[in-house]
Amino acid sequence: MENTIKIGIIGSGRIAANHAKAYMNMKDVEIVGIADTIPNKAQHFIDELEIKNAQPFEDHNDLLQLDMDGISVCTPNFAHHKTSIDALKAGKHVLVEKPLAVTLEQGIEMSQIAKETGKMLSVGYQPRYDPNMKKIVSIVQSGQLGDVYYVEVGGGRRRGMPGGTFINKEFAGVGATGDIGTYSLDLALNALGHPKPLTVSAYTSNHFGTNPLYHPESDKFEVEDFGAAMIRLEGGIVLNFKISWAMHMDTLGPAIFLGKDAGLKLTPAGSGPWSGVWDGGIAAISMFHDCEERYEEVNLPIEKHDINIFAAKIEDFVHAMKESKPAPIPADEIIINQAIIDGIARSSKLNREVEIHLPAF
Ligand SMILES: NC(=O)c1ccc[n+]([C@@H]2O[C@H](COP(=O)([O-])OP(=O)(O)OC[C@H]3O[C@@H](n4cnc5c(N)ncnc54)[C@H](O)[C@@H]3O)[C@@H](O)[C@H]2O)c1
Repeated sequence: MENTIKIGIIGSGRIAANHAKAYMNMKDVEIVGIADTIPNKAQHFIDELEIKNAQPFEDHNDLLQLDMDGISVCTPNFAHHKTSIDALKAGKHVLVEKPLAVTLEQGIEMSQIAKETGKMLSVGYQPRYDPNMKKIVSIVQSGQLGDVYYVEVGGGRRRGMPGGTFINKEFAGVGATGDIGTYSLDLALNALGHPKPLTVSAYTSNHFGTNPLYHPESDKFEVEDFGAAMIRLEGGIVLNFKISWAMHMDTLGPAIFLGKDAGLKLTPAGSGPWSGVWDGGIAAISMFHDCEERYEEVNLPIEKHDINIFAAKIEDFVHAMKESKPAPIPADEIIINQAIIDGIARSSKLNREVEIHLPAF
């Protein structure tokens, strides 16, 4: 069909199946090929999901020879940079999974090449499609809080350790900070209107991952399972960030925005060992105001919805391609998130505060 959007997927693991199902549920979208470096894995993926007419490849550059509009990059973090750049240079629009990349330099190069090629580079932050997340952004940006001077974010899984490619330094590049921490950072940065980070002072550790009591692959655990950082943002805002894959604590607390006129408290949804991550919905939003003994706490209504935010992310990418719109979540916007993740890695290694220098891009 003439108006069919043709898609390729690079990496055929867990999240790729999620992308494939969403594409397959859309009219006028066809998955034409899958690439995975593990021999036969792409074919197995095609068979398992019954993706009609899709061709399997081991090298993503062979997949990129096909006639297609867009690519989903679903590889482990380390390969986001190369595969996205190759896809952009091959003239395809790209939806890359989070985090954008491993280092700031990689992210900047990816963003520059998207500009040079005139193709979209969108990043997969599905929480942005949660109506309650949208409400938070609109509250902060409406000015109801006054100037925001302090933000605290960070969820913490009590016991939510991944394994496989997520704990291998070469594949993942970063641990909890880039995996689930990037959602918390996006919550803060998107609401604040993407202020540039200036400095980061961070601590990271992996006391759980490297302990056989807590991880079956402790001998292979090479990334951080906990991170905390103080980040100075432009505009005199301080961002206090913390994240964990595992800890001896039920929660790392709610997210808070302190403004000169009011405060906002956000509690993530879910309970149990894997809760406390900002990709799993919002349980409560409260506004606080305390002035001359008049104390107000208002619990704002939470919107109950049945939006599949994972599918919404894919649909938005497809619609942007169809309607020649800009990237729904442009890499340019996510560079500051990447700069913080990069700053956390540098600062914790050096045991001191580091500066963040962002070139004009
Ligand atoms: N948005 C979300 O909610 C969400 C959830 C899970 C994972 N992710 C992100 O998605 C990415 C993949 O995660 P996953 O859980 O699917 O990992 P996974 O390990 O299950 O799958 C990754 C696949 O990519 C393949 N691969 C590696 N290098 C490749 C290359 N150069 N070309 C082609 N294939 C290659 C691997 O062989 C593997 O099959 C990660 O960056 C992760 O952070 C996002």
